Amino acid sequence: MSANNGHLIEMQGITKTFPGTVALDNVDFDLRPGEVHALIGENGAGKSTLIKIIAGIYQPDAGTMRVNGQAVTFRSPIDSIEQRIKVVYQELDLCPNLSVAENVFLGGYPRASFGRVDWKTLYSRTGELLQELGLDIDPHTTIDQLRVAEQQLVEIARALSRQAQILVMDEPTSALSPTEVEKLFALITTLKSRGVGVMYVSHKLDEIYQIADRVTVFRDGQRIVTKPVSETQPHQLVEWMVGREVRDLFPKTETQIGKTLLEVRDVSGGGVQNLNLTVRAGEVVAVFGLMGAGVHTIGRALFGDSERTGTVTLDGKIIKPNSPVNAIHGGLGLLTESRKEDGLVMLLSVKENLSLTALRRFARFSWISFRAEAKAATSYVEQLGIKTPTISRKVRLLSGGNQQKTLIGRWLLQNPKVLILSEPTRGIDVGSKAEIYRLINKMAHDGMGLLVLSTELPEVLGIADRILVVRKGEITGEFSRAEATQEMLMTAATTAEPLAAAARGIN
Ligand SMILES: Nc1ncnc2c1ncn2[C@@H]1O[C@H](COP(=O)(O)OP(=O)(O)OP(=O)(O)O)[C@@H](O)[C@H]1O
Ligand SMILES: [Mg+2]
Repeated sequence: MSANNGHLIEMQGITKTFPGTVALDNVDFDLRPGEVHALIGENGAGKSTLIKIIAGIYQPDAGTMRVNGQAVTFRSPIDSIEQRIKVVYQELDLCPNLSVAENVFLGGYPRASFGRVDWKTLYSRTGELLQELGLDIDPHTTIDQLRVAEQQLVEIARALSRQAQILVMDEPTSALSPTEVEKLFALITTLKSRGVGVMYVSHKLDEIYQIADRVTVFRDGQRIVTKPVSETQPHQLVEWMVGREVRDLFPKTETQIGKTLLEVRDVSGGGVQNLNLTVRAGEVVAVFGLMGAGVHTIGRALFGDSERTGTVTLDGKIIKPNSPVNAIHGGLGLLTESRKEDGLVMLLSVKENLSLTALRRFARFSWISFRAEAKAATSYVEQLGIKTPTISRKVRLLSGGNQQKTLIGRWLLQNPKVLILSEPTRGIDVGSKAEIYRLINKMAHDGMGLLVLSTELPEVLGIADRILVVRKGEITGEFSRAEATQEMLMTAATTAEPLAAAARGIN
């Protein structure tokens, strides 16, 4: 019975239900030594659920699992760890106030005599691991001092700190820069050559073609297909994922561009230098830069999360620094790039979220009209395609992409004059991406001004009327939709010259 066919892991007939949801419906999945097996599918397709079963966090309702040919039942994560399975989770899972080294070895500190923690080994071994990853991080640094991308790499280092035979990664590159992704892929290649099997979940199809040997597609909790990557075409993968053809990923339409709504003059502070920009009614302005260039900090600086100099004017009114409340009242909205940052709202239901910042709208004589709230929430759930059994479901329990959609819906309901969207489609599947772009279009069409902060080239090229490029917190190029090309944007994002010179060099 223990014929393992050379498989590291073999799962058969796995079913997992949650109240109101069949997350996994009789699925099979296997992993061979030395291969990267990618798992893809729409938001809510069941990818993370399968991973959590492999990790021993969830127990399946039905199905069998074998590791190296032996039947196993994981009652807790410890059982999984004992099989040398390492998981890098979708949501970062580090302790912010502990050092990098402590996090890397959390739960398995090296011991010296008398059971004492061997701190010297802890830090030196962490140093080696970080070096292997090509990371210039001091093992003594505490996690909260690191960028999200660096935290993600520490999480990966942690997975590597114990000799894994099975490495599972749930969207590991969502916050990494292109160079960091290269480092990660080089590392995966090394691990493969050592016989490690890698299970890789990502919404980025180009990554699948770069790194994976086989690919499995899930849709609505079911396995649709498993194939060698070389025998697939990207458009097929998309079709298998969404069950239909996605013809127009960037449904950009021409809109009437009106008066200036947002005017930013000489703003410095909070990681931004001498920022000048305008956004007009009906206009989609994108700010593009590489990870770490300061693209995202712009949102917070304008929104008033930090001290700054210069002026931000919204529809003629000055937005005070250091006062997000003032910004919201003035008609400015900000969707941050990090779901974690919106921590509290995760504990609320979908319905509560889709009304949180819009409470005023439903308040008559200062109480909330629950019927109106439920009606609005339901309509947004439909429009955004948020996958949830009921609108009372806690956002924390939705899949990653559906959490993001809920947060976007929150701002749509508030109906701001200008909405800043930082990485609006991070972690969003292809089909839903198109929906979100359609929504951005619609908002522009309705006269809203949109400022999209993004590190995704195709996205900015696909949706913006105008594109600003930032490098080290400064704008180094400005392009209209008609003139912008991938090369121009990359040049402006990577060369040191300031705006005027860069523009001249390119044109
Ligand atoms: N603890 C839970 N309680 C209730 N429902 C859950 C729970 N965990 C997951 N679900 C539901 O199971 C389904 C599958 O979720 P899962 O997180 O596996 O999706 P996913 O494929 O990882 O999606 P994404 O690409 O958005 O990360 C979703 O409908 C989700 O809402
Ligand atoms: Mg997931």
